[in-house]
Amino acid sequence: MKIGVVGKGGVGKTTLSALLARSLQERGRRVLAVDTDSNPNLGLSLGLDSAQTEALPTVPRSIVVGSRGDLTVAELMADYAAPTPTGVTVMSALRVNEAAAGCTCGGHATVRSLLGEALESETDDTIVDMEAGIEHLSRSGGTLAHADVLVLVMEASLKAVITARRTILLAQELGIDRWIGVGNKISDEQRDLLAELCDGHDVPLDVVVPASDAIVAADRIGRPLYRADAGDVWQAVESLTSRLVHAGQQPALQ
Ligand SMILES: Nc1ncnc2c1ncn2[C@@H]1O[C@H](COP(=O)(O)OP(=O)(O)O)[C@@H](O)[C@H]1O
Ligand SMILES: [Mg+2]
Repeated sequence: MKIGVVGKGGVGKTTLSALLARSLQERGRRVLAVDTDSNPNLGLSLGLDSAQTEALPTVPRSIVVGSRGDLTVAELMADYAAPTPTGVTVMSALRVNEAAAGCTCGGHATVRSLLGEALESETDDTIVDMEAGIEHLSRSGGTLAHADVLVLVMEASLKAVITARRTILLAQELGIDRWIGVGNKISDEQRDLLAELCDGHDVPLDVVVPASDAIVAADRIGRPLYRADAGDVWQAVESLTSRLVHAGQQPALQ
C-alpha cells in the first residue's frame, strides 16, 4: 500500500505516521516511511537519535525513480533509506540543507515518481508523512497522485476538518478514491464536537486517537512512544492499521 498521511499543521501527522509504520511492521510487513517535511523529524519518532536523524541522507531533488529513470527503486533505497530501531525503514526526501536553496518542488517530483513505481520488490507499505497543508495534492501534478489511500488527520477544530474536506476534493481530482478520517489528540469532551464537525463537512470519522500525555512526554525528549505507555492510543492505531489493510484489499473504500 502507498499511504499518504495528510492534514493541517500540528495535528499529529508525524506522530501517527510513525505509529502506523510500527504497527504495520509488527504485522510482518516491510515498511518504508518517507519524510517529506522540509524540517524532518520522522526519524526521531522511529527511534533514531538526533545525530542519526541529522545524518540521514537526503534524496537529491528532481531525480526520476524507475528502471528508465536516474535510479531504480532498489538503488534509491540502498543509497538513501536507513534502518531504524523500530524495524521501519526511513527516508528523508525533502530536507532543506541550506538557506536560499530554492523551492522543494523537485523533491516533491521525486517522491511522486517513487510512488508511481511498483515498490513490491522493496517494501510492502510506503507511508508518506506529508508536509502540512494541501499543496502536495496540486504541486508537480500531485506528489501523492499515486497514493492508494490517504489518512486524513484532524484535531477537534473546524480548521482541521475543513482542511480534510479540501483534501478530499483535491484527492478526487487526482483520482484517489480511498481515504480514512482520523481524529487525533481527542479528549472525551471533544469527541462529539469532532463528530459533528465531520458530519457537517462530509468528512468520515473512522478512527479516534485519544489525547495522550505519554505521546507528549515521548515527543518532549524526541523518543518513540513505548508500547507499554501507549494504552488506548495503540488500540486506536491498530484499528487504523486494520482499516488500511482492509482498504488495500478492497476496490474502493469511499
Ligand atoms: N494523540 C496525541 N495526544 C497528545 N499529543 C499529541 C498526540 N499526537 C500528537 N501530539 C503532539 O502534537 C504535536 C504535533 O504533532 P506532530 O506529529 O509533529 O504533528 P504534525 O506532523 O501534523 O505537524 C507534537 O507535540 C505531538 O507530541
Ligand atoms: Mg510533521
